[in-house]
Amino acid sequence: MSAAARPAVDADAFKAGMRALAAGVTVITSCADGRLNGMTATAVCSVSASPPRLLVVVNRESASHDLIARGAAFAVNLLAHHQEPLAARFAQRIERPFEGLAFAQGQTGCPLLEEAAASLECRLDDRHEAGTHTIFIGEVVHVRTADAAPLLYFSGAYRRLAPRDHG
Ligand SMILES: Cc1cc2nc3c(=O)[nH]c(=O)nc-3n(C[C@H](O)[C@H](O)[C@H](O)COP(=O)(O)O)c2cc1C
Repeated sequence: MSAAARPAVDADAFKAGMRALAAGVTVITSCADGRLNGMTATAVCSVSASPPRLLVVVNRESASHDLIARGAAFAVNLLAHHQEPLAARFAQRIERPFEGLAFAQGQTGCPLLEEAAASLECRLDDRHEAGTHTIFIGEVVHVRTADAAPLLYFSGAYRRLAPRDHG
């Protein structure tokens, strides 16, 4: 059978393979029409440094999808090792997502989470549809960093670097 004729694998086989990818955990924040939201995401990738571009991959059924498209902006907050409760919080749809949280609104209005290892604020530059998701490409307009070890996700669980692996 030629490679072109071979059927795609099923979703379980695909997920089993992707479980081997260790990823940094982020919260993508969005804002439109006075509404703020955030969603936990690992599908985040650097695209180019000059001009500065990154991409995020967002399920069309998420509330964030509509807010990113309408607000034409988003911010990627790379969580620090101690921020697992934020990852759990933003992995579900909640009514008042930022109630009780320490954050500032950047120049796009999107929330920048306090104590994140880094926050990259983006203006929406381009988008591509891919399966159930949209790839949003952002032009990075502001970066804030902190000296913090990252929170990771690997094989279905949150992880941290061993102390000797940081710094
Ligand atoms: C570790 C982890 C990584 C995730 N990565 C993504 C992602 O990259 N893209 C995505 O669309 N959803 C991702 N999700 C699911 C969203 O966080 C989840 O659907 C969330 O409820 C969306 O919130 P919203 O509907 O308020 O936007 C991830 C969830 C977890 C726990």
